Amino acid sequence: MYGKCSSLPDAWSVFHDLVHKNAFSCNIMISTLCANGQSAQAIHLFLALASDSVVRPTHVSFVAAKRVLGLFSESLGLESGALEEAFEGERHAMRMNYYPPCPEPELTILDAHADPNGFTILQQDTRVKDGLQIVHCGAWVPIKPLPGAFVVNIGDQLQVLSNDAYKSVEHRAVVNSERTRVSIASFYGPAEDSHIALLAQLVADEAPACFKDSVYGNYLQSFYASKLDGKAAIETVRY
Ligand code: OGA
Ligand code: NI
Repeated sequence: MYGKCSSLPDAWSVFHDLVHKNAFSCNIMISTLCANGQSAQAIHLFLALASDSVVRPTHVSFVAAKRVLGLFSESLGLESGALEEAFEGERHAMRMNYYPPCPEPELTILDAHADPNGFTILQQDTRVKDGLQIVHCGAWVPIKPLPGAFVVNIGDQLQVLSNDAYKSVEHRAVVNSERTRVSIASFYGPAEDSHIALLAQLVADEAPACFKDSVYGNYLQSFYASKLDGKAAIETVRY
C-alpha cells in the first residue's frame, strides 16, 4: 500500500491509484497548512500513513461510528436506530490534516469551528501534546492525545436533531515550532440531499423546537460561506 514517489504529480498518481483500488473506504480530503513547496512532503507522509496500521483503525472507525450513533440515540431515550434513520442516508468522508512546524506558530491556526456534520471521530498524533483545542467554560482547552483512543467531536447536525440536547463542540488546531503534526478526521453525517428535521420525540412544552428544517447540502453551503467562524453556521437554522 505504500508508494514511493519522487515528485508531487507522481505522488498524486500513486495516491489516486490507492483510492481506485479501494484502499480507502470513503471520500478523502487532504488539508495542509503549509507553503506550496512543502505539499510534496505532506503527500509522502500521507502515503506512509496509508500503511495497514493506520487505514485499518480508520476503517474500524466507520464501524465504530454506527455504534456511537446508536449510543447517542439511546442516551436521548430513543430507539438505537433513531438517529441513523433521521440522517436519511449517510455520508462518510475522511480528511488528513498536515501541520508542519512553523517558526511563528501563533500566526498559523486551523480557525475555530464546529464540524457541520453529525459527529467526527478524530485520530490524533500522539507525538504532539497540544494540537486540538476545544472551548470549555469559555476558554480554549487542549485535548491531549491518549494512545489508542479516538476523540469524538459532536457536530452541528447532532445538535439540530437532538433539539439542543447535545451541543456541537467549538474547536481549532494549533501548530508548534518544533514538530510536524498530523491528524485523521473521519466525518460521519447525512447525505447532501438529506432533509434534516429535529426529532419530534424531543420536543416538549419545556423543550420547544429550536431549529428549522434544512437540506444538508444547503447547510454545508452556509457553513463554507461563514469561513470557519466558530459556531456561526448553526445560528442560521435556529428559530
Ligand atoms: C477538522 C479538525 C482538528 C485537528 O479536520 O475538522 O477540526 O486536530 N481537525 O486536526
Ligand atoms: Ni473540525
